[in-house]
Amino acid sequence: MDLDLEELIPQPASVKSDVLTLSFPNGCTVTLTVDSAVGCGGNYWPAGEVLATYLAHRGGLNGSKVLELGSGTGLVGLVAAKLGAEVLITDQLPLLNTMEKNIRLNELSGSVTALELNWGGPLPDIPLSGVSLLLAADCVYFEPAFPLLVRTLEELCRPNTEVLFCYKKRRKADKRFFSFLKKKFTWTQVLDDPGREIYCRQNITLLRLKLKPRLE
Ligand SMILES: C[S@@+](CC[C@H](N)C(=O)[O-])C[C@H]1O[C@@H](n2cnc3c(N)ncnc32)[C@H](O)[C@@H]1O
Repeated sequence: MDLDLEELIPQPASVKSDVLTLSFPNGCTVTLTVDSAVGCGGNYWPAGEVLATYLAHRGGLNGSKVLELGSGTGLVGLVAAKLGAEVLITDQLPLLNTMEKNIRLNELSGSVTALELNWGGPLPDIPLSGVSLLLAADCVYFEPAFPLLVRTLEELCRPNTEVLFCYKKRRKADKRFFSFLKKKFTWTQVLDDPGREIYCRQNITLLRLKLKPRLE
């Protein structure tokens, strides 16, 4: 597996364990415990910052139900909750504690739930109907997980679900993710984002995915 861990270290790379306050458009702020000891998801990643910034800029999530995959610290989902959504932030078991800490730090226990969800595995045993927005940021980096992530996206998606998928291209092998993705989804770039010109230069792309009609 040609996995260069140096390339996978999120920004800011120097933070081991800390509590940070991050500011987003329209006065949205999030307090975040980051902890590199729990793995790569213990810190927030560049595409997560881009997606959180886009959501805060766009607003309009009041009353909607949102599910985030590979949430790590929970940053993106927490921003969605600050904008009025009911949110499920999900990740692998070692991240649950960090996500729960961050929910409490932001006093969002009433609107955010942290759940274990392993891509390709069973979906959480809670009602998922009504989820109108699926989010995923910086989840393309580990080749064996590519088909699993696509399978979970497909299982969660309904024809009218909006899927915002933000990724940073790091390696040529990332292309393989998109060959899995195109079997089930089409996509377009999100163009109404004022930060786009800047993050494009950092190889970050924000996509809106659309589930292809299922063949009966
Ligand atoms: C690079 S981090 C991105 C975290 C966060 N989305 C962000 O942008 O700051 C990738 C996240 O995906 C999660 N992840 C990786 N493989 C996974 C899998 N098979 N099932 C569920 N989550 C997974 C990791 O635990 C990690 O939190």
